[in-house]
Amino acid sequence: MARAGSPLRELRLLRELGRSYRRLNLEYSRLATVFILMVLSGVLEMSGLSILYPLVLALGAGQREEIGRLLAYLPFAPSFVNDPRVQLQIILIAVAVLYVAKNVVLYISHDYDIKFAMHYYRELIRALYSAHVHRSVLDFRKESSGALANMICVQSERLVHGVVRPLLIAATESFLLLSMLIVIYFVSPWVMLLIVVACGGAAGGYYALFRQKALGGGKQRMRAASVLHELVNNTALGINEIKVFGKEDYLTSRVYSAAVTETEMFHHYEMYLQAPRFVIEGVFVLAFAGSFLVAIAAGTDTAVLLAKFSIIAASSFRILPCVNRLVGSYYNFSFSIGPALALMETVSELDLRSKTKATGDAPHGRGRVQASHLEVRHVAFVYPLTNRPVLKDVELAVKTGARVGLWGASGSGKSTLIEILAGLYAPTRGSVLVDGKSIAQDPRSWQAAIGYVPQLPFIMPGPVRENVTFSADGVDDDDRVWRVLERVGLATFVASLPEGLGTELGEKGAGLSGGQKQLLCVARALFREPQVLLLDEPTAALDADSEEMVLKAIRSLPAETTVIMVSHKQQNFHGFDATYECDNGRLRWQAMAHPLNTE
Ligand SMILES: Nc1ncnc2c1ncn2[C@@H]1O[C@H](COP(=O)(O)OP(=O)(O)OP(=O)(O)O)[C@@H](O)[C@H]1O
Ligand SMILES: [Mg+2]
Repeated sequence: MARAGSPLRELRLLRELGRSYRRLNLEYSRLATVFILMVLSGVLEMSGLSILYPLVLALGAGQREEIGRLLAYLPFAPSFVNDPRVQLQIILIAVAVLYVAKNVVLYISHDYDIKFAMHYYRELIRALYSAHVHRSVLDFRKESSGALANMICVQSERLVHGVVRPLLIAATESFLLLSMLIVIYFVSPWVMLLIVVACGGAAGGYYALFRQKALGGGKQRMRAASVLHELVNNTALGINEIKVFGKEDYLTSRVYSAAVTETEMFHHYEMYLQAPRFVIEGVFVLAFAGSFLVAIAAGTDTAVLLAKFSIIAASSFRILPCVNRLVGSYYNFSFSIGPALALMETVSELDLRSKTKATGDAPHGRGRVQASHLEVRHVAFVYPLTNRPVLKDVELAVKTGARVGLWGASGSGKSTLIEILAGLYAPTRGSVLVDGKSIAQDPRSWQAAIGYVPQLPFIMPGPVRENVTFSADGVDDDDRVWRVLERVGLATFVASLPEGLGTELGEKGAGLSGGQKQLLCVARALFREPQVLLLDEPTAALDADSEEMVLKAIRSLPAETTVIMVSHKQQNFHGFDATYECDNGRLRWQAMAHPLNTE
């Protein structure tokens, strides 16, 4: 691995960026367009500057031969070039055309650069999110939600603004700088050499002095940002405890100390970014004035000197901002190398799905398995990083249409078993079979056939309608959405919302009570018309009336729908075929008082 301060890190980052570009399956034609526009701006810049030389000569009298010599270079040198007024007009028109053309191309190039960077940015966000959300549940949960949000929302933005855009700016400016230096070389090789040595030396010296600091600052800023994000992000979850324990000030001080680090690092970064401007400008003016002082002392013809002076002065108007942007974008880049490499490392480990590779969400309804007999055989389960078996030897057989209840003490493994049945975790030992075939062979088809109501309801920021359909498809079938809402007893409430099914939910939208969230999740599961419905305490947060509503909806499911429901209240299993107690990693069958159809 390259040492923290070695320039190999820059090269490694460039290589990783190239790789990510390939892995994201982005079009190379975009990259080619960026490059062509850069070269074109450079060429136009060069032409615009070079034409100033004959212009100034033409304006100064007595330089006819020099102008004639220059115009003779033109492939279409007109016959009337001897008239000085026409010469001046030709040159003026050429200057105007070239400058307008150059600015148009620079505008287009700038516009395209931003488009290019933003395209990379949105594709990166899509690929990062998609890669994470496609991971197995256990892998997904390894990452804290703050770290995940930080990576996808903050670090990817920094990669684009701290690395991709500075690189594009640096490349454009390099072309411009190169073209201007070529012009100055033809005017006076010595002045060019002096400028390159003086400005290059100043920029290089500054870089050598402060690079390490910038690298360290970048890393610290990333860490502080991550802590800040996680703290703020998790406050919503803990706000009740924070209030009850009176810890508002403690949390504020934690947030503040993260903000202090982040802002201090930003301060260094800004100073690191701005300072070279002052250094380089000073050095440039010294070099420029010095070289002309020497030329005047040497007795050079003042008309030629004036023309040379004006062209170098004109280029310096362009060169200085150009060098500043070049140096600034490089420093910006070097400040972001650490975090960018860390992000690129994560990217390289992920299974990035390009848009074309995305297979689309699991089908539901059509093409799903015809579940009939569900069998759990000797299932054991141990969570990774723990060695205590949560499930030891679970045995269960459920026929199509059976209604099965699970109950047991907190922590006895009911949710874990439901998650295994939902194909979210693979058992450590044993298997779950549907009609004799393990669900592990094709969890997606199995999941297409089931409905699942988790213990903690999930509400997506978005309209009620999409929260029920859980997809952008089927959102036009409002009647179906209303029917399931009716079945779980949410229809009246939703109808009372300002925009009905279109009302936005989530933290910033209409608030739902814990029970309403649960009802919505039940509605979402029913909307899929599942063959097997897995419910993990779907009524835990409900009042007696709402609870009865949900139980009624479950009881009124088609006879062929299999139901496996976890509940702490055994009376909720009224009308069920069988109930089991989850205890010590096993299921113990319980006799039912009034079973409807016994297994
Ligand atoms: N992600 C996890 N990593 C490690 N251990 C876990 C994880 N999730 C749950 N456990 C452990 O597994 C055991 C069973 O948890 P589970 O959520 O299945 O219990 P439960 O029966 O549903 O409890 P409750 O009635 O409180 O919902 C618990 O002891 C818990 O500590
Ligand atoms: Mg549970």
